Amino acid sequence: MDINGNTVLITGGSSGIGLALAEAFCREHNTVIILGRDQEKLAQAKQRLPQLHTLQVDIANESERKQLVEKIQTEFPALNLLVNNAGIAYFGDIQRPDELFKNACLEIETNYLAPLHLSLLLLPQLQQCQAPAIVNITTAGVYIPLTVMPGYSASKAAFSHMTQVLRQQLANTPIRVFEVLPPAVDTELVSRFKIQKLQPKRLAKKILVGIEKDHYDMPIGSARVLRLLGKLAPHFFTRLSHRHMTKMLR
Ligand SMILES: NC(=O)c1ccc[n+]([C@@H]2O[C@H](COP(=O)([O-])OP(=O)(O)OC[C@H]3O[C@@H](n4cnc5c(N)ncnc54)[C@H](OP(=O)(O)O)[C@@H]3O)[C@@H](O)[C@H]2O)c1
Repeated sequence: MDINGNTVLITGGSSGIGLALAEAFCREHNTVIILGRDQEKLAQAKQRLPQLHTLQVDIANESERKQLVEKIQTEFPALNLLVNNAGIAYFGDIQRPDELFKNACLEIETNYLAPLHLSLLLLPQLQQCQAPAIVNITTAGVYIPLTVMPGYSASKAAFSHMTQVLRQQLANTPIRVFEVLPPAVDTELVSRFKIQKLQPKRLAKKILVGIEKDHYDMPIGSARVLRLLGKLAPHFFTRLSHRHMTKMLR
């Protein structure tokens, strides 16, 4: 699809991957709206990119999602591209079951239910626009579970499956559904991982190229290797990754 002249909504566009995507879309002459919870982060993003439209929204809150959709319908009726990027991640250990469960609930709400609900609410508007698309940011952890982040990993697996369901159910409509599966990226979300990470700007560039070339499935960089390993010997590589990650976090 054309990567110029769109009206793009990026959830969680105030830092990390979302902000890099906002910058890349602005450079290609799109109208870009970002949202996040923290007003200060939104203001900093706006200072960096004055053409941005910013909205303070907690995407995990159902009534805020509904208000957001009403605002988009009235103020940005040309919206044709939704990027479901906002996400949270917690480390989890079954030795601390209450904490694990509480965080897993938040992760399911933010990483899976919120983007699903927002996509469904925006479908009628997207149907009316030129070249409508939904871009879902999942993770390479879909191929080999991130066992040290159990709630995160499971919420992203659910989101990945739902992305494929949406793609099939929307196949007879003009709405295209992309899935981006990034490897580790240098953002606050995974700052505790001492591993090689991709820079958000490089990832954003690759995502825009993928969208332009209609690559609906976008495993990026080492995510391709993980996809292969996850198919070859899923249990073996999950065990190996668990040992490596727990050692690294000690
Ligand atoms: N970094 C990686 O290695 C990596 C790898 C694979 C996939 N991903 C995915 O990439 C996406 C972006 O992550 P990132 O690494 O860029 O992390 P990040 O820098 O922590 O950015 C997360 C963004 O989401 C927003 N956000 C979180 N909860 C929200 C909520 N309830 N409502 C609205 N906005 C919310 C945050 O803003 P506020 O805090 O102000 O709300 C922030 O703008 C996530 O979905 C993540 O799972 C990341």
